[in-house]
Amino acid sequence: MKKIFFLLSLLPMMAAAQTVTSPDGNIALTFSIDDGRPTYTMNYKGKAVVLPSHLGLELAKDKHASKGMRETDLMDDFTIVDTQTSTFDETWRPVWGETETIRNHYNELCVTLQQQKNIVMPPPANPDVRGRGVETRVRKMIIRFRVYDDGIGLRYEFPQQDELNYFLIKEEHTEFAMTGDHTAWWLPGDYDTQEQETQETRLSEIRGRFREAVNWGNSSVAVFSETGVQTALQMRTDDGLYINIHEAACLDYATMHLELVDQQTTSLTTKLMGGSNAYTPNPTPSSYPLPKPFTFVSHLTPDATGLKGAMQTPCHTPWRTVMVSDDARDMLSSNLILNLNEPCKIEDTSWIHPTKYCGVWWEMIVGKSSWNYTDEFPSVKLDQIDWNSVRPNGRHAANNEKVRRYIDFAAKNGLDEVLVEGWNVGWEDWANLWKRDVFDFVTPYPDFDLKALNDYAHSKGVRLMMHHETSSSTQNYERHLENALQLMNRYGYDAVKTGYVGDIIPRGDHHYSQSMNNHYAYVIQQAAKHHVMVNSHEATRPTGLCRTYPNLVGGESARGTEYEAFGGSRPDHTCILPFTRLQGGPMDYTPGIFETKLSTWSNNPSWARITIAGSLALYLTMYSPLQMAADLPENYERFDDAFQFIRDVAVDWSDSKYLEASPADYITVARKAKGTDNWFVGGKCDENGHVAVVRLDFLDKGRKYECTLYADAKDAHYETNPKAYQITKKTVKRGDVLKIKEAPGGGFAMSLFAK
Ligand code: NOJ
Ligand code: CA
Repeated sequence: MKKIFFLLSLLPMMAAAQTVTSPDGNIALTFSIDDGRPTYTMNYKGKAVVLPSHLGLELAKDKHASKGMRETDLMDDFTIVDTQTSTFDETWRPVWGETETIRNHYNELCVTLQQQKNIVMPPPANPDVRGRGVETRVRKMIIRFRVYDDGIGLRYEFPQQDELNYFLIKEEHTEFAMTGDHTAWWLPGDYDTQEQETQETRLSEIRGRFREAVNWGNSSVAVFSETGVQTALQMRTDDGLYINIHEAACLDYATMHLELVDQQTTSLTTKLMGGSNAYTPNPTPSSYPLPKPFTFVSHLTPDATGLKGAMQTPCHTPWRTVMVSDDARDMLSSNLILNLNEPCKIEDTSWIHPTKYCGVWWEMIVGKSSWNYTDEFPSVKLDQIDWNSVRPNGRHAANNEKVRRYIDFAAKNGLDEVLVEGWNVGWEDWANLWKRDVFDFVTPYPDFDLKALNDYAHSKGVRLMMHHETSSSTQNYERHLENALQLMNRYGYDAVKTGYVGDIIPRGDHHYSQSMNNHYAYVIQQAAKHHVMVNSHEATRPTGLCRTYPNLVGGESARGTEYEAFGGSRPDHTCILPFTRLQGGPMDYTPGIFETKLSTWSNNPSWARITIAGSLALYLTMYSPLQMAADLPENYERFDDAFQFIRDVAVDWSDSKYLEASPADYITVARKAKGTDNWFVGGKCDENGHVAVVRLDFLDKGRKYECTLYADAKDAHYETNPKAYQITKKTVKRGDVLKIKEAPGGGFAMSLFAK
């Protein structure tokens, strides 16, 4: 009898289960209601990828919500009122990209849920007033799933309705229940930085490794849990599935991290470490039951109030994505994140162009030159200094003579632009002092002749690239932005590198909060109006917004080459970034360091953990339409035969083929230069070396190609012999197979010019 009752009670739930499969049938997503809670599972070729996982949001009781202190959560008491399935198939053309066209093909399941909650009203404040009662609240929420051949996306949608109008998010509870103790490549979840080295551990080992994984020395750090990690999170299961969790189209919403529930987790709460903010958001643990160990739960970045989102219906969340394949190469060729973003919103995109550039930059990062013009004052107030009468420190790099030298170098070598940092006043006391009026973005130092240098650059077919370090003083930047963009238009700048070093002002806010994400989007949109491309450093990690705003040509949001001057990054660093950081969009990694021992030309004892051939490979393996040649002109002039590859390599592609890939081990990719019949191939490996097998079956049949191979010399090694490379030339054709040895920490680059 007991058994029959059990079966009967399961019936409504079973009846509600809905499955939608990917166009190729390999991925199956099932949605159901489990005791009033929205639940999904995901399978790939019959294997579980995501076990039953709940979906929902906890809302804050707060006077700023329409329901005020009577606010209730969107977690349970749901029933399905409608389900719709549909199919979509389009092919679109990115303004720039890894391929000329992208297919966006998915099956969709759209579930409309109704939540009915009986709420016991709080006792009236005045005991003489009677009327404590029960209110029935009915709300609608939609969950939309898109199932592609390479993964899924899901998001919450909140239609406008009387019962759900303005609301505040305490926490989003999207669960991703993993099937076991997978291997993961992870960064500590941090509200303010992604400039850490990737850790490779089992899920169960994250907690034990956490503290040593944090970059405590970064200019802004706020970690929230010893099992908190960032997305895109790359994993591998013991039976050979590659799984990647990230998000797409994060607009007007906080950036998502993941908190792992492990054997030791007792509750989901926030333990803030490293930040200087006054209080910990969400100090009360969530009262909902803990999911099983090896479940990741979404953890949003709070703003200065500790809350995670201020919403007004109609609205929706970003997409939560899970990619899966049994072939690691599919993680790199996937367009899932781009496809889940809205089509391009910029009508005329003719001014957006892939760019190769050099810059007055590396010598400041290394510490040989300075961004600031004077050392005369302990601090400066911009409106109280006569810059023409201050004493120069003699180390200011952004001066007329040096900038001309870089312009000449760019012109001679076919580089499009020259970035100049430290051109504008304010660098004397710029970083991490919580100073509001730190830059005005329009006043040059006296030794930087804005007009003359731009005229000189233009006369040589080169443009200067603007630099706006904001020091994270965002209101200051927004106040000056229009003037700064007008100045750029006046002098012919069409690209800006922005920067967000240090803790955010308004104080207490974080780099990845909803308000900061709105700031970054505002800057991109304003720049687009002025036909300016944007490359944001220290901003939030990308989520494919470059499809909608292709003037977002790059970003940092990870540990870039600058860290080679701050003690170095592990040789496998660039073999994992394409699986993680690059999922959301291109990175301004600033590759191309040829003189790896910095002490040969500066007092900096750091050295880059890469060979010269490995550095060349990065122009292919780290896809970006914006590529820097980051080293000094004089270092390139010493190795001019190797620099030929940087002169030749394209920055925009009509096709890309990932030939080999294993996370944090090696990546080999072939790309066809847009508008030509030429191909370029690059391979990069970790500290163990690698033998790449390159089958030239992507070349045109019957055609001959002039192949130049830039390979590590036999005895090359990233530490002991990084500058040993050999360049060989031969004629090749489709079907040829090349075996190329990559040194420890090395790689190779190859150009294939069609004859
Ligand atoms: C950090 C950026 O990543 C780096 O490229 C830049 O030079 C400095 N901030 C100064 O803005
Ligand atoms: Ca940085």
